[in-house]
Amino acid sequence: MSVNVGDLDAIGIDARRRIASAPDEAALEQLRVELLGKKGGLTAALRGLGRLPADQRAAAGARANSLKAEIEGLLATRAQQLQETRIGTLADREWVDVTFVPNPIRRGHLHPLTLILREVKAIFSRIGYDVALGPQVEDEFHNFEALNIPQDHPARDTMDSFYLEDGKLLLRTHTSPVQIRYMQSHTPPIRIIAPGAVYRRDATDPSHGSQFYQFEGLVVDHDIRLSDLKGTIEYFARSLFGSDRRIRISGDHFPFTEPSIGASVSCGLCDGAGCRSCKAGWLEILGAGMVHPQVLRNGGIDPQHFSGFAFGAGLDRLAMLKYNVNDLRMFLDKDVSFLRQF
Ligand code: PHE
Repeated sequence: MSVNVGDLDAIGIDARRRIASAPDEAALEQLRVELLGKKGGLTAALRGLGRLPADQRAAAGARANSLKAEIEGLLATRAQQLQETRIGTLADREWVDVTFVPNPIRRGHLHPLTLILREVKAIFSRIGYDVALGPQVEDEFHNFEALNIPQDHPARDTMDSFYLEDGKLLLRTHTSPVQIRYMQSHTPPIRIIAPGAVYRRDATDPSHGSQFYQFEGLVVDHDIRLSDLKGTIEYFARSLFGSDRRIRISGDHFPFTEPSIGASVSCGLCDGAGCRSCKAGWLEILGAGMVHPQVLRNGGIDPQHFSGFAFGAGLDRLAMLKYNVNDLRMFLDKDVSFLRQF
């Protein structure tokens, strides 16, 4: 192959155009290899110089060498330009907004009833209580009869029950049957709380549901007195609601305790005076009493040697009071915007 000045001119025109329009440094590098490399037109031209007639060889050689120098110069200049552009736009393309707030990661947390149950367990475990559990499907003996509630007793009406299809088993209406089961399987000293779900055929309203949670307390030992019960209620209420709360004991009636009492805690807002939130000034928190001697006997414990007290409280109700929630049904709804507040 031979070469002439026309070829070199064409190579030069093509090279200048392509170098000027190389879009980035990688493309330019590829172009450099193409233009100056072994397979490039210029290299072929230089190699062909030897075959030119002697009188043309010097001029063509000089022309080719100067073209090569020119191309090298253009490549270097363009490389410089492209690098400057790249660095100049780096701040625009790769900036990080350190003030950007990403979507918050929502952490799960415990349900308010679980929180209150954990607190109740902790309060009683500090004074030596164990946690006992019983079945939610009960027989009439444990739910009623052993607790002095015979078939025709009016207390059965206040706890209208859900019976299973066999007409004998029912969903427990309170946690008190755990008293009987525990006494039957343990000997005094007994100190337990027994939390769990209970069921009543109640109308559903802000303070009643057909399923709610209670916890039972039972203490049986030598010489257990009403004053022990009172002190325990005071300790419990102040631990849960605050040391400035006062306790009020009133008379009540349950077939399985004698005497029976109700305990109320002073309203945290008005301290018993009565306000819009509490109305009467006092909030009822539990029912309690000294375990009826016949109930001890039904549990296999001799009332000649032992005495005891029992109490039962609504966990939902305590949660309502503690967290200022005015509708019990919120605890069983799956309303996330409500639950997130705890
Ligand atoms: N079982 C009673 C109720 O559900 C509460 C209670 C328990 C009262 C223990 C006295 C003693 O209303």
